[in-house]
Amino acid sequence: MLQATGIYKSYGTLPILKGVDLHVAKGEIVSLIGASGAGKSTLLHIIGTLDRPDRGKVVINGTDVGSLQAKQLSMFRNEHIGFVFQFHHLLPEFTALENVCIPAFIKKESRKKAEHRATELLDLLGVRQRADHKPGELSGGEQQRVAVARALVNNPSIILADEPSGNLDSENAAALHKLFMDLRAQLNQTFVVVTHNEELATIADRIVHIKDGRIESVDRHAG
Ligand SMILES: Nc1ncnc2c1ncn2[C@@H]1O[C@H](COP(=O)(O)OP(=O)(O)OP(=O)(O)O)[C@@H](O)[C@H]1O
Ligand SMILES: [Mg+2]
Repeated sequence: MLQATGIYKSYGTLPILKGVDLHVAKGEIVSLIGASGAGKSTLLHIIGTLDRPDRGKVVINGTDVGSLQAKQLSMFRNEHIGFVFQFHHLLPEFTALENVCIPAFIKKESRKKAEHRATELLDLLGVRQRADHKPGELSGGEQQRVAVARALVNNPSIILADEPSGNLDSENAAALHKLFMDLRAQLNQTFVVVTHNEELATIADRIVHIKDGRIESVDRHAG
């Protein structure tokens, strides 16, 4: 599903990524861990096509994203990549349902279809009854689940999450992790998740450690 090969990235004269290779199969949950400043978010942004590497190649679902022009790239990103960040960036003036629909509207999906899918996802995430509320009227955990629904609305090839449970309490964090497992079980959804959360790291199929700009070691979980 994802092949990132030979990824290099520097900021000014400071090398951050020095030849990272990360291949992720469909339906796999990979967690990315490493010290603060190790380059985890940088790598996630490159994989997510939000930033370009200085060298190296990113292929998602068979498409070499480096070959896409800006407009094609934003379309590709909208359809194939779902983002979940620690600070979920829901739009405050829109309801939960509208927030979830936005990527589908960008894809020019009909309102009816988009709302149907969004409602289905809110239901799956246990926040359907909050669909007409604005983010400011939702708890942190509810907002996070709405953000996950938004990430899923276009059935992305891959979900990229940066500290998704970083501002959740342990109960909501556990629920979010279970949700990722359920999505993998039900939809064979693929994930790359940056996390400091040990519980989340241990439910992953693979834990990839980043250190000194390289992948240091990989722990593979049985089953
Ligand atoms: N736009 C930028 N310009 C200059 N330096 C940057 C930029 N973005 C990140 N960096 C630097 O690159 C390094 C890696 O940053 P990155 O955000 O990828 O770290 P991280 O592993 O996600 O850390 P954390 O766990 O704290 O989120 C850091 O030293 C950071 O200061
Ligand atoms: Mg980071």
